Amino acid sequence: MSKPKVFVCRPIAKEALEKIASETEMELWPEELPPPASVILEKTRTADGLLSLLTDKIDAHVIDAAPRLRVISNLAVGYDNIDIKEATKRHILVGITSGVLTDTTADFAFALLMAAARRVVEADRYTRQGKWKTWGPMVLLGQDIHHATLGIIGLGRIGKEMARRAAGFNMKVLYHDSFRCPADEEKRLNLEYTDKLPVLLSRADFISIHVPLTAETRHLIGEKEFALMKPTAVMVNTSRGPVVDQKALYQALKNHRIFGAGIDVTETEPIPESDPLLTIENIIIAPHIASASVPTRTRMALIAVENLLAGLRGELPPNCANPEALKK
Ligand code: DGY
Repeated sequence: MSKPKVFVCRPIAKEALEKIASETEMELWPEELPPPASVILEKTRTADGLLSLLTDKIDAHVIDAAPRLRVISNLAVGYDNIDIKEATKRHILVGITSGVLTDTTADFAFALLMAAARRVVEADRYTRQGKWKTWGPMVLLGQDIHHATLGIIGLGRIGKEMARRAAGFNMKVLYHDSFRCPADEEKRLNLEYTDKLPVLLSRADFISIHVPLTAETRHLIGEKEFALMKPTAVMVNTSRGPVVDQKALYQALKNHRIFGAGIDVTETEPIPESDPLLTIENIIIAPHIASASVPTRTRMALIAVENLLAGLRGELPPNCANPEALKK
């Protein structure tokens, strides 16, 4: 029997590629940059399985042109790059890498929070630029993290891990989500719930965003929301760029409406060189690396392979975003 055909959109961990190659007829896009849309379309046309990244747009057009496609395994927990409705309609299983990156992503979100509050990146630039002339009582003053209030928007797995990290800094944690978690969990994590986003925004010293990108969460944080934040507030976004209105973020930072921000994601990725956000000091902009530790990226690749191979066998991928797509 011939092996299923698979297209892999970028080099991933070696052991993961070896596993795919041993069980399928694999074609790999070998470049550092993503395959152009026309290549994805062409390669997917005859593929049984696709291993995609969050940079690869798998829309209805691609899905429509791929009559053999049975599984899309996305190397990410977020899957806003995939038209999941269309995939489900066509019984195409969508695998994701939730679970394996939770801690690593929360570590990075907390690192951004701390670095933005204490101006770590700015301080490094200051030193390298020869501005360090003496110890100064007013030099590079930041905000305290310990005993401050952290506002978590979206209490999924990563949001909960942020709450655990905050406990180590004696922070008070407030959260907002469309679902309230059970009382025993709120107690265990020492959480206070608010069903009103404006309440969280006006009370929190730190605001960390952990929601998926959907039609409802696009520009969830804009001019109106920044206006509610404290002037000392620090906002952290490790979810998806379009959840925050970037023009409003720029205005809020430039006019010192808020103290600072740490973001791992931008509305357009990579951020264009001409983006005004790059001209201001009180923001740290990382290139979407919150899950980028060696062990986690390897685990993500291996789980993506498991998802892919399970889908090709007609089984439910261990980490599946649309189990209802499985053909009974
Ligand atoms: C994801 O998995 O969705 C992250 O954005 C990248 O790890």
